[in-house]
Amino acid sequence: MLESVRIVDLPKILDERGNLSFLEGDRHIPFTIMRTYWIYDVPGGEQRGGHAFKEQEELIIALSGSLDVVVTDGKQEKRFSLNRSYYGLYVPHGIWRHMENFSTNSVALVLSSTTYNADDYIRDYNQYLQLTNG
Ligand code: TYD
Repeated sequence: MLESVRIVDLPKILDERGNLSFLEGDRHIPFTIMRTYWIYDVPGGEQRGGHAFKEQEELIIALSGSLDVVVTDGKQEKRFSLNRSYYGLYVPHGIWRHMENFSTNSVALVLSSTTYNADDYIRDYNQYLQLTNG
């Protein structure tokens, strides 16, 4: 299940005036974008986003600075260090993830396949383990 979490390289238009990257839902990522949010001004040492989603798929991009995304399926754990704005981490539904190691002034952009729905969250890790591992 954890193999489905993967880095997605985005187009990079190099230009001496400054570089440009972009992405289109359903073309560069395997879902239609229904919502975008971003996490910023994270104090040193803080963690965000410790939960799983029942349905939501997402792409997380370190738009500025760097952060780590730690993902687990309850069996294995993987850490992805994001530090460039020309790739993102695709996280399908059903994966427990949290973000940490935010650098000063970092901005994490999250593209989501759903609008906000509090009922889509699994916030209790033990409940997550029960749901995924039976
Ligand atoms: P949450 O996703 O719980 O962040 P974290 O897991 O890092 O704590 O979101 C924090 C709060 O923001 C929560 O009260 C719900 C609210 N929120 C929205 O209203 N809309 C959104 O799109 C998101 C992502 C969060």
